[in-house]
Amino acid sequence: MGWHDAGLSFSGQETQVKRFLTLCAFTVYLIHSALAPAYAETLQGQGGMVSSRSDIASQVGADILAQGGNAIDAAVATAFALAVAYPSAGNLGGGGFMVVALADGTVTTQDNREVAPLAAHRDMFLDAQGNVDRRLALNSLQASGVPGSVAGLLDALERYGSMSRQEVLAPAIKLAREGFVLNEDLAGQFADNLAGFRQYPASLAVFSKNGEPYRAGELWQQPDLADTLQRISDEGRDGFYKGKTAELIVAEMQRGNGLITQEDLAGYEPVWREPIHGTYRGYDIWSMPPPSSGGVLLLEMLNMLEPYDLGAFGYGSAPTLHLMIEAQRRAYADRAEYLGDPDFVAVPVANLIDKQYALQRFADFDPERASDSNAIGAGNWAEESLETTHFSVVDAAGNAVSMTTTLNQGYGNRIVVTGAGFLLNNEMDDFSSKPDTPNSYGLIGRDANAIAPRKRMLSSMTPTIVMQNGKPILITGSPGGSTIINTVLQVVINVLDHGMEVEQAVASPRIHHQWLPDNVRYETGAMSDAVADELRAMGHKGLSGSGFGIGDANSIGLGNGVFTGASDPRSAGGVAGF
Ligand code: DON
Repeated sequence: MGWHDAGLSFSGQETQVKRFLTLCAFTVYLIHSALAPAYAETLQGQGGMVSSRSDIASQVGADILAQGGNAIDAAVATAFALAVAYPSAGNLGGGGFMVVALADGTVTTQDNREVAPLAAHRDMFLDAQGNVDRRLALNSLQASGVPGSVAGLLDALERYGSMSRQEVLAPAIKLAREGFVLNEDLAGQFADNLAGFRQYPASLAVFSKNGEPYRAGELWQQPDLADTLQRISDEGRDGFYKGKTAELIVAEMQRGNGLITQEDLAGYEPVWREPIHGTYRGYDIWSMPPPSSGGVLLLEMLNMLEPYDLGAFGYGSAPTLHLMIEAQRRAYADRAEYLGDPDFVAVPVANLIDKQYALQRFADFDPERASDSNAIGAGNWAEESLETTHFSVVDAAGNAVSMTTTLNQGYGNRIVVTGAGFLLNNEMDDFSSKPDTPNSYGLIGRDANAIAPRKRMLSSMTPTIVMQNGKPILITGSPGGSTIINTVLQVVINVLDHGMEVEQAVASPRIHHQWLPDNVRYETGAMSDAVADELRAMGHKGLSGSGFGIGDANSIGLGNGVFTGASDPRSAGGVAGF
């Protein structure tokens, strides 16, 4: 079963997704066919570690650490390098979230999510019949929110970094200016997306050689992007949100009904937010609050699972899988009803992550039978209590950064800002364009996530840090749209319940259920055929293991003073450290 059969659609991205799924299926096959399982690419060290989707970007971060930079310096340098070396999700034109844990015990999060332009309005993606116009919501200039990454990264650097802007931006500028040799992964992605890039001359100029696909082994240079990065290095946020870069963005908008104005750009601000914090079996879980749904749902699911001994049931066993699916079903139903931008709607976070609420929400759990998603609805409580990429960084002092960033779909709306060399996001589709109508990840939303000017669209990105006695033991997160939260859930459970080392926790096949569509999807090897039959007999629907692939969780495990960087074998990527 593919994503489409599952009710999800990656419109316009099918070839890339198919390629990704084939790669996943093959990798998972390798893992499970080998006598000694081939786990994630791992590297151990004690000086510092970066695990990201790009070996080049990881090396940039590790070099910064080796020069004496801290984890924040390295994270900012890695993020800018990803904008050059992993353009499908690394970005200047998108946004993301960062969880920062400092050696002094401070834990905070930064939200650099895109916001809806001032001219956006609730029904902007509805056609004359009142239906969602998917092309407009995803493949247009109107699909772009006001980018947040640059403001966020610079603010994080100023607040918690130790190096200068010029120092952390220098490697990205060099990579863009001098270029780097394309590997099979990137050359393949560019070729697969060529048809989309052809619609926009600036995109075609960046991602092809005069319309011909690049081949692996060829040098790829991005002079316009190098100039944009240089302006950011010279002028700080004004080098992006004002002056020439802002003019180029607005000029691009005017080429095709885009909404972003100079006022939108100048007014963008990242927000430092209190992390979502909870405990699971005595470990501290720190994750991203709204406008991400990730941290809330992660805690809600862990709370529902905590009373059960998943470790004793075992990885891949019917009881463990049944429990996880039922927790996922209930948490994702709550997402649709309650989650949105906390600056616009009152999100009942405390209720949703309360352990008592989880008990109540799970009270109708039947160990023998699957629940019916249509009968589940959202939970309630007594009135009075009223293509993304993740990377992980740690330094020798114990500072840790967990960051997930995105253009939404791979290569965003595929529109490169002419003259500025970077892609724009299509994050507006993460809003609920119409109540109870699925977005590109099949996610449903309601009023809490309706479009409004300056509002942030709800996200599933779940950068997370797990701590024991105040020290990080796991830094994790993932891309994968709606599947992100379940990926993080399973990496955490694999470590804390199943006692896996980080590389095995990351590599092990995973499952996904998101309430609606009422389907269980799983990667090959996540369960045996016999267990799948058992779950079917309990009433679980849609169980099919072929062709399903889920995001790469580039993580770091920490124990006894040793860092283990794990690059997910589901995709190319790399760890770098010492
Ligand atoms: O913020 C979100 O939840 C989505 N825009 C993330 C998109 C994503 O993970 C795509 N990657 N595979």
